[in-house]
Parts: sequence; C-alpha cells; structure tokens
Amino acid sequence: MPYLLHPSGSLSYHLRAWRRRHTLWAPFHVEVRRWLADWRPETKHLVLIGPSGGYALTAQFLERFERIGVLEPDPLARWLLRRRFPGVAFDWRESGYLVQPGGFARLAATFPDAALLFCNLLGQELQGQPADFDRAAWLAELEPALAGRLWASWHDLVSTTRAPEGHAPACLDHALPLDELLARVWRGGDLEITDHETAGLCPSAPRRYALWHLAPRRHHLIEWLNVQFPGS
Ligand SMILES: C[S@@+](CC[C@H](N)C(=O)[O-])C[C@H]1O[C@@H](n2cnc3c(N)ncnc32)[C@H](O)[C@@H]1O
Repeated sequence: MPYLLHPSGSLSYHLRAWRRRHTLWAPFHVEVRRWLADWRPETKHLVLIGPSGGYALTAQFLERFERIGVLEPDPLARWLLRRRFPGVAFDWRESGYLVQPGGFARLAATFPDAALLFCNLLGQELQGQPADFDRAAWLAELEPALAGRLWASWHDLVSTTRAPEGHAPACLDHALPLDELLARVWRGGDLEITDHETAGLCPSAPRRYALWHLAPRRHHLIEWLNVQFPGS
C-alpha cells in the first residue's frame, strides 16, 4: 500500500491534524505536553518512534536533547516534522524491523545510550505489519527487551464512537483491569470498543490517562507509561 494511503500515516491524518490542532485535538495535546514536560530521562540522546508530524511535541521538549533519532516511515510526516522544528537536526533511521520478532531488542541495541519515546505507536496499525500480526506476542517482548532502559510511551488503549460520561483517571500506581478502567470513563450501558490490545503493559509501572477526541464521533482512551528503573 502506498504509504500516503496507510491508515496511521495517511495524508488524511495530516489534514485532520492541521484542521483540529486548535479545536478537538488541543486538550489532548496539552496533556501529552504535560507528560513530556515531566519526563526527564537522564540522557542527551532521544529516539522518537512514530512521531508523525510531531503534532504533540514542542521545541522546548526537543531542545533538551543533543541528538534526536527518528523512526518514522511516512515521508510526508518527516517533511512536516522538519518544517515544524527547523532548528532540530533529526537523525532519520530505518524502522521496518520494529514489527518483526526481536524488533524491540534490535531497537535497544541500535541506540544503547538513548531514551526511547513511542509516540502513539504501540496500538496502531504499523508499516511492515504482516497480515497475521500478533500484537500481543509483539508487545510481550517490549518490557524484557527494554529492561534497564529509559523509555516512555503514549498509546491507544481503546477507541469508541460513544462520548465519555466520566473522566479518565489522571494517574494510577499500576495497571487496573481494563473493564474497571473503562467503567470510570463510560458509565453503564453498552459500550462497543475497538481494543488496541495495549492494556496491561508493564502492569506494575505508574501510568497516566487522557481522552483524545479524534473526530466528532471518535473518542480514544490514551495511556502514558513512563518506565523508570532505579539507578538506570
Ligand atoms: C497515530 S500516528 C502517531 C501520532 C503522532 N505521534 C501524533 O502526535 O499525531 C502513528 C505513527 O506511526 C508511524 N509508524 C507506522 N509504522 C511504523 C514503524 N514500523 N516504525 C515507526 N513508526 C511507524 C506512522 O507513520 C505514524 O506517523
């Protein structure tokens, strides 16, 4: 599939990002920027994985790092990222291996001194993803492959057409069963969801949540994980 037509890297995604940057998407981006402002990995080397056009990023955040590697297969996203942050010398890197078995271990080995930031990638349809992609098996490799590393991720947990009645919990010490979490946001009745298969990642790590009003009838529950290793 030509990459501009791919669901997670498409031209329509960039058009929506542009049209909704000051409206529907703005509250969610405020949250992501707060998470990033609080994320202080002790390294000057950052690797962004799937940042798209950097819609949730700020120059202030990127300027904290001396080197910034990027895994982003969408050429238009790379062009937009360069335009949004002309002062940043991005180091563009290959990304096709990430969805293969052993992809996270290869990522960690390729960037041994970097903090790794997954920018709403883990629950997405990915470039290079095989038809029989087993996301649960892929994600089971994440935590062991990155043990002892500084990394963080924001990712889709579920999405739905139903508007939330409650609030996403601001933060939790550890993962809650998905049903319990959903019941805080959507109160009672039928809830038809798209499960992005990321629930329960790093279950003992603290986490934060936000709602992303992606489209007039599309709501995403997003999780932020900042995995800290004492002494790392
Ligand atoms: C939902 S978008 C990310 C949203 C973005 N962070 C934002 O703030 O708007 C998912 C991104 O992952 C990228 N992507 C898809 N497959 C990838 C892969 N194998 N490696 C790295 N990035 C990938 C897509 O091109 C897309 O830009």
